[in-house]
Amino acid sequence: MNRWTFLFILMLGCFISVLSTCTLPPNAAPPDTVTLVTISGPAASATTAVRPTAMTLPSSPTPFPTRTASPTPPAAATTTATTIPTPTAPSVNCLERIPGDGLLTLVTREFGLSRDYVPKDLVPLSDYFSNNVTLGYPTEVRAVIVEPLQQVIEAMQADGLSPQIISGFRSYSAQSLALQKWLEQYPDWARNLSAPPGHSEHQLGTTVDFGSPELKYMIGDENIQFHPAFAQTGEGQWLANHAPEYGFTMSYPADAFERTAFYHEPWHYRYVGPELALTLAADNLTISEYLQQEQPQPCLVK
Ligand code: DAL
Ligand code: ZN
Repeated sequence: MNRWTFLFILMLGCFISVLSTCTLPPNAAPPDTVTLVTISGPAASATTAVRPTAMTLPSSPTPFPTRTASPTPPAAATTTATTIPTPTAPSVNCLERIPGDGLLTLVTREFGLSRDYVPKDLVPLSDYFSNNVTLGYPTEVRAVIVEPLQQVIEAMQADGLSPQIISGFRSYSAQSLALQKWLEQYPDWARNLSAPPGHSEHQLGTTVDFGSPELKYMIGDENIQFHPAFAQTGEGQWLANHAPEYGFTMSYPADAFERTAFYHEPWHYRYVGPELALTLAADNLTISEYLQQEQPQPCLVK
């Protein structure tokens, strides 16, 4: 190899190296100390919490999505069939996309929803769950997930757990506020902790964030929520093992940062129906990966 060829290869290597530092490393850890945002509270508020360092970040004791029990979903759960996806015209701009009533609308950092989209069948959780579960937050979800959500909560309670639902539907503007709060606190990390408005599965009304009363004792903070240690709580472990049987899938599993562009969220579950949720668990797929494989591009990204 002559001198010029060697120099060219050397420069190309440097260029690729510089490019790679422009993106977050695959297993980039969140900041050590994080101010966590209470998104669904009566007035969105920020609470301070310490996120374990990268070395101490809890790893899920039950790697997603290991199922260890109840191979047969409860009879009632199976009555909620997976809804056939509503086709969306591929010519629609993602900023204008209004999904149909189906459960399988793809929402990612790339494929968003119209700021005007609000599901028509939202109901308040307080009509169906006690204060112990809702914590008094005015959370709403689509009516279609109320029954499976009741089944999950009742099954967890029957196992001696105390599940909480700390977030459900979030409008475009509520999501904007949530991201803004994260950005104010942690500009370098916020975009991998919170979706931009129009790009959160919470806008679909079929996604919930669970909480656990154990968390405050584990972290030593009365107001702690949305903490990775949720995966270690009884509620977090139960959900990792059983949520798919009830139709719920964890959208942002551990070690999936490269696939989802979001850090592990062991509390964030989306309802897709038991059949599909169990398939995703068996195939170790996220809902967004599955939908991108199975459906045409839902909208045009600009
Ligand atoms: N935290 C998830 C990514 C959301 O904001 O929807
Ligand atoms: Zn969530």
